[in-house]
Amino acid sequence: MAGKENSELQIWTEKYRPKTLDDVINQKHVVERLKAWMKKGSIPNMLFAGSAGVGKTCCAIAIARELFGEHWRENFQELNASDDRGINVVRGRIKDFAKMKPLGADFKIVFLDESDSLTPEAQQALRRTMESFAGTTRFILSANFSNRLIEPIQSRTVVFRLKKLTKEHVAEYINRIAKGENLDISKDALDAIYEISEGDLRRATNLLQASAALGKITKETVHDVASQARPDDVKEMLNLALTGKFGEARKKLYDMLITQGLSGDDIIRAVHKEVFNLDIQEKAKLELVEKIGETEYKLNMGGTPEVQLQALLAQFMKFKGKA
Ligand SMILES: Nc1ncnc2c1ncn2[C@@H]1O[C@H](COP(=O)(O)OP(=O)(O)OP(=O)(O)O)[C@@H](O)[C@H]1O
Ligand SMILES: [Mg+2]
Repeated sequence: MAGKENSELQIWTEKYRPKTLDDVINQKHVVERLKAWMKKGSIPNMLFAGSAGVGKTCCAIAIARELFGEHWRENFQELNASDDRGINVVRGRIKDFAKMKPLGADFKIVFLDESDSLTPEAQQALRRTMESFAGTTRFILSANFSNRLIEPIQSRTVVFRLKKLTKEHVAEYINRIAKGENLDISKDALDAIYEISEGDLRRATNLLQASAALGKITKETVHDVASQARPDDVKEMLNLALTGKFGEARKKLYDMLITQGLSGDDIIRAVHKEVFNLDIQEKAKLELVEKIGETEYKLNMGGTPEVQLQALLAQFMKFKGKA
């Protein structure tokens, strides 16, 4: 099947990227305002703020497609502000692009990703560049944190805040892909994708594609490709320690560290997440969270994961019988 072969080669994050604003999930408040601008046939300089994988780039591309139609690629330039070659390279590319006449339109769009990674000085330079090309170019800046942008940029852009995506939104998007690719996804697997991606749809899509490449999309394959500690394993380990079965808890720990090849960091993060779900008193949780913090610190300082994590399990043993 030619179609299938094709789909295997394509990266799903691009293949399923919304082509229109209407396909963008959960950013209605932003989409409605954007549509109002588009009706006028023009847009202001804008700032899209929001966490990773919530649709900032999607909205920018959808705007370009709607405004420019088939010429959208010629009139749209995506650049990354955190380009390691420096802000001058970025400004050079903005200039080269902005100098050329828009194709079949009054202006072009520069989409500048990660603009909040720029130093304040670089932002001043960016602001001057924005002003010099104001006649022919609109800027869309994207940032995880709008408050990291200098005031003169914030006040010269219309700010749009994109919301974080919930489990339902992630499910909606994953099901779109599942339909397109003819995939079978269990509810467990979907839950795992949501938990690991934390609402970042790029991460969710990549997890899905990598799991699908292994043949079957289950909770286990999702965790395998994410190389994250499985919540069930961690929970079991902690409960073993809480019931005084230190040997078995230790075995579980070694299984994660050695057989599954997880890092101490992976495990400590999962322990931190799980501790709140344990059936112990709040006071015990607080004490353990403090110990987890200490262990994380020791790991960062170069402590041996086996030793430090075992010491942490010993702390859990203190609450034996109170589980
Ligand atoms: N709101 C959304 N609706 C539909 N798809 C989305 C949405 N948000 C993200 N995606 C999907 O997730 C992937 C990444 O989206 P996008 O590039 O827009 O994220 P972003 O907000 O720009 O994140 P980053 O800050 O990491 O660049 C794309 O494949 C896109 O299809
Ligand atoms: Mg992006």
